[in-house]
Amino acid sequence: MIQIEHLHKSYPGADGSASREVLHNISLTIESGEVFGILGSSGAGKSTLVRCINLLEPLSSGRLLIDGRDVTHVRGRELAQLRTGIGMIFQNFSLFQQRTILQNVTFPLEIVPRSERLSRAEREERARYLLDLVGLAGFEKRYPSQLSGGQQQRVAIARALANKPSIMLCDEATSALDTTTTVQILELLHKINKELGVTLVLITHSLSVARNICDRVAMIDGGRIVELGETEELFENPQSDILRTLIANANHHAHGTGASAAAPSAAASTLTAEQAVK
Ligand SMILES: Nc1ncnc2c1ncn2[C@@H]1O[C@H](COP(=O)(O)OP(=O)(O)O)[C@@H](O)[C@H]1O
Ligand SMILES: [Mg+2]
Repeated sequence: MIQIEHLHKSYPGADGSASREVLHNISLTIESGEVFGILGSSGAGKSTLVRCINLLEPLSSGRLLIDGRDVTHVRGRELAQLRTGIGMIFQNFSLFQQRTILQNVTFPLEIVPRSERLSRAEREERARYLLDLVGLAGFEKRYPSQLSGGQQQRVAIARALANKPSIMLCDEATSALDTTTTVQILELLHKINKELGVTLVLITHSLSVARNICDRVAMIDGGRIVELGETEELFENPQSDILRTLIANANHHAHGTGASAAAPSAAASTLTAEQAVK
């Protein structure tokens, strides 16, 4: 379980100008085993929030608890240990271009303290298991540049799972992918959530992604939570003007009345839950 209590986050201004608060009093609880969506437009503060959750950024104020433990001020070795329990994937995959697919997935297993490190054979065995899990058995010896975007994201997912995290943070993980590939990656994430019980925190600007896979969604706008609730309820009965407007626009495009009806993002908004998550 992830508990965020009254989180404020400011960044220092450039050249000594006054600092600017980009997250304002965020409080939310993400249950273990949940698929939790953080939805918001570009610049809303989604990535900042996710960097606070995995402690890549210190909180300016507020508290962060993971499984009931206050980790707000954890540093050093303890922090490194905590991070191995949190997997992370990104929009741009962030694979190591000079390493093979297998070596990409074994990497997180190589950097744990020596006392906890598996043998080379065990590391490779785990990587092969994970590559099989994500549908990439047989790709071990290839390099990232020899894979499609969807395949590269599968490698990133396998790598994120190497140290058996209980939480996986996905920051715009499907935003660089086409509609069909997005559906496939969401199916894979859904499988990982159900079969491995990994808590998923999915950061997205896409209404359809949030709607199709998330149990609950928080929408942030201007660094504040403007919606929070069960996904279906939230989409059927949005409380905020911004979500109402976004839903109306998506419906408008989906019905082919807009000039951009064929654009990938508009097409994605017409995906059904059945298509996205089998
Ligand atoms: N390292 C940083 N230093 C200063 N400002 C930042 C930094 N990272 C993000 N910001 C600002 O914080 C706000 C939220 O950014 P971000 O969390 O990346 O939004 P999102 O992921 O929702 O697009 C933006 O105004 C952005 O310019
Ligand atoms: Mg972002």
